[in-house]
Amino acid sequence: MTINESIESVRKSFRTDLDSFPSDPKEIDSLRSVYFGRKGLIAGLYISLADLPNNEKPEAGQSINNFKKKLQTDFDAKASTVIDVASTTHNQSFDLSLPGFPITNGSIHPLQQTLDEIKSIFKSVGFKVAYGPEIEDDYHNFEALNIPKHHPARDMQDTFFVKDNIVLRTHTSNVQIHLMEEREPPLRYIVPGRVYRNESVSYKSYCLFHQIEGLFVDKNVSMADLKGILEYFVKQFFGESTVMRFRPSFFPFTEPSAEVDIWDKKRGKWMEILGCGMIDPNVFENVGYDSSIWHGYAFGMGIERMTMLKYGIDDIRLFYQNDIRFLEQF
Ligand code: DAH
Repeated sequence: MTINESIESVRKSFRTDLDSFPSDPKEIDSLRSVYFGRKGLIAGLYISLADLPNNEKPEAGQSINNFKKKLQTDFDAKASTVIDVASTTHNQSFDLSLPGFPITNGSIHPLQQTLDEIKSIFKSVGFKVAYGPEIEDDYHNFEALNIPKHHPARDMQDTFFVKDNIVLRTHTSNVQIHLMEEREPPLRYIVPGRVYRNESVSYKSYCLFHQIEGLFVDKNVSMADLKGILEYFVKQFFGESTVMRFRPSFFPFTEPSAEVDIWDKKRGKWMEILGCGMIDPNVFENVGYDSSIWHGYAFGMGIERMTMLKYGIDDIRLFYQNDIRFLEQF
């Protein structure tokens, strides 16, 4: 066989191997040594040079060199389509044409979104934001708010006691007292925060939840001001066409007291959204404000409740389970 015939036969077998090129890196390596190894087919071609007359050696050597280069380029090109850096280290094939992993963005918790929205509505009409303690004494959580000893809210069932006279606050109304004790009127604050109730956990109640308290103290404040601000708020939060009503109610710290309901089209009934009223003169007395000069209103609402009504969520526990299928809807 002449050198050229030998080259031709190696070329032929190389073509066949390219057509059934392996994908496993180990097999690729052994195929590589079949051609380019120390005892491989190319090496064999060089060995057969020895049989040629000296004057033919340079030209034949050149042909083998060129052939080897071409084979190497083709082999590497083929190999790079089936393996990549990752697979050479992890011994796995890697399909560059597959789509990448999606980058998932986190989202703001629905309760935080509601809170942010409520805050910005009240801030737009001049309210400032204040905070107060979650661990509270009996006086600020109950007594100063005109909640007498026998009131159901003080029942062991409803209140988590830290120790005698110290409770986890059952509402954000405690901060009304702190604000009025610490500052001179006029006051215009909203107070967001966590509150705790010792209730059995169900779809409609949880052992902790969030409220926003509103407090406005000034001269000549009337129930009409309270109605005006809450109407403005409800339409901003639930939409301009929301139907709402004020319904007489009772809270120890307001007189008169009311609750606000909105008409829930989906459920076909009135849903209570908040409690409110004119600050009781007894409360003013407890903080040393002269109730013949100062008047005020207060209101309190549950953030979970507002969120559930706005988005049609029917189980309060969803807010606390961190189930990604729930959270990613917001
Ligand atoms: N603190 C009440 C509760 O937890 C809500 C509330 C009602 C707050 C009337 C107020 C108010 O400020 O005026 O249910």
